[in-house]
Amino acid sequence: MFYKQDPVFPKDFLWGASSAAWQVEGAVNEDGRTTAIIDLNSQKKKPYTDNSIAADHYHHYEEDVKLMAECGFSSYRFSIAWPRIYPSDSTEPNQKGIDFYNNLINELIKHNIEPIVTLYHYDMPVWVDEKYNGWYDRGIIDAFDRYVRTCFTEFGDRVKYWHSLNEQNMQICYGDWLGVAKYPETWFKDKWKVNHIMNMCHAKAVIACHELVEDGKIGPVPGYVPIYPASAHPDDQIAAMNAEELTEKVWNDFYAHREYNGFIKSYWKENDIDPEIHDGDMELIKEAKIDFFALNCYRSNTAKACGIDEEPREYKLNKSGVKGNLEFPKVPGLYQLTENPYVETTDWDWEIDPVAMRYMLRYVWDHYQLPMMITENGYGAYDSVSEDGKVHDPKRIEFLRDQIYQVGLAIMDGCEVISYNPWSFTDLLSTGNGMAKRYGLVYINTTDEELLDLKRIPKDSFYWYSNLIKSNGSDWGK
Ligand code: BG6
Repeated sequence: MFYKQDPVFPKDFLWGASSAAWQVEGAVNEDGRTTAIIDLNSQKKKPYTDNSIAADHYHHYEEDVKLMAECGFSSYRFSIAWPRIYPSDSTEPNQKGIDFYNNLINELIKHNIEPIVTLYHYDMPVWVDEKYNGWYDRGIIDAFDRYVRTCFTEFGDRVKYWHSLNEQNMQICYGDWLGVAKYPETWFKDKWKVNHIMNMCHAKAVIACHELVEDGKIGPVPGYVPIYPASAHPDDQIAAMNAEELTEKVWNDFYAHREYNGFIKSYWKENDIDPEIHDGDMELIKEAKIDFFALNCYRSNTAKACGIDEEPREYKLNKSGVKGNLEFPKVPGLYQLTENPYVETTDWDWEIDPVAMRYMLRYVWDHYQLPMMITENGYGAYDSVSEDGKVHDPKRIEFLRDQIYQVGLAIMDGCEVISYNPWSFTDLLSTGNGMAKRYGLVYINTTDEELLDLKRIPKDSFYWYSNLIKSNGSDWGK
């Protein structure tokens, strides 16, 4: 639908930004925190720097929250590092880790910023990995339950919005990239067993949140890449639906309906896959009623039909930041992804497609009728400090303006959206490109090659966003 006026955002809409512990905090060996699997994974991604310092938010959190308040934030989405809370298999949590998050939460509340907390954003402690073979052994379900229960008990008096697992679908779809897959040769089948164990962790977290947090609300955080058919050919439409199922819908249906959908059951049967569902699992899952969807959305994909006899091809993401280094996957008999001639791309070949944001919100609302919050969306680019000492990022402003406008249109279309938190508040470590690929509203003065003074420099986008959110989404700065 077209509207004659600019979108109007709800009065109590929460405006903020987003981060994740391992990408922003640094201080990986401080105050009792032990190593996480993702620390080791980040060390392998040379020539980029690892996460040992990142944006050093651990030591700058007060300054960072002050900047959030200056910007006009009413929310901040961050994650808790499991190895800060449980550095070892001891039955006692680490008080210093708890203190850090208490201080951060109190600082946010002092500035009227709603904390929105993700329980798991990839930082599995090494001791968990060793004891339970990562996500492969069901023993992790109780270890995770103990960790999340501690978080709810310690922080639940002030934190009312919680997320279970960040981008479970992406962790399964790109298991090697995020360090979840241990045996690449058998991942095709193993992933569904691992996924079921993650689902059990999600379900128990939902149940524990409702049990322990007064007025607590909890939801999952799927990584969402809307998928369009490449043409009006009916086979391309089915291919787009197949891709949608195997990268997102299987998860979203599960979270919302608390059962596996018909598509995935048939896929398992066809491929002789046993996800190892134990007696009692589905009864427990049935109790895990989510309150909202938190959605990460950066881009869109386009799919076309792929014959059953075609050669399979892996998805090769562009990890260099030099355009043209992406290879689309082929999944014989189901779909292949392809270029979309109608959209521009970033240096990392990510589609710049604001309409995908509206499409996603409409799609999720139509399917599940649950409130939604945007927990990630943003423009990854090379940024630098200009001679005038400022950071000019007009493309990021353009990106955010177009995307937020589409959030507004989705609200006008009737979708219930409660919050927008782009990635990221400060620059932080990218999953594959260190500090080179920057997303922040605030520049962090350091590089992959050299540790500099970590000075915080608000970018032009910070000031633009500040005007927009202080006007509750009416000053577009056009
Ligand atoms: C999201 C993740 O999928 O994408 C973040 O939740 C990640 O952790 C973000 O940083 C951007 O991806 P990248 O690879 O550009 O850092």
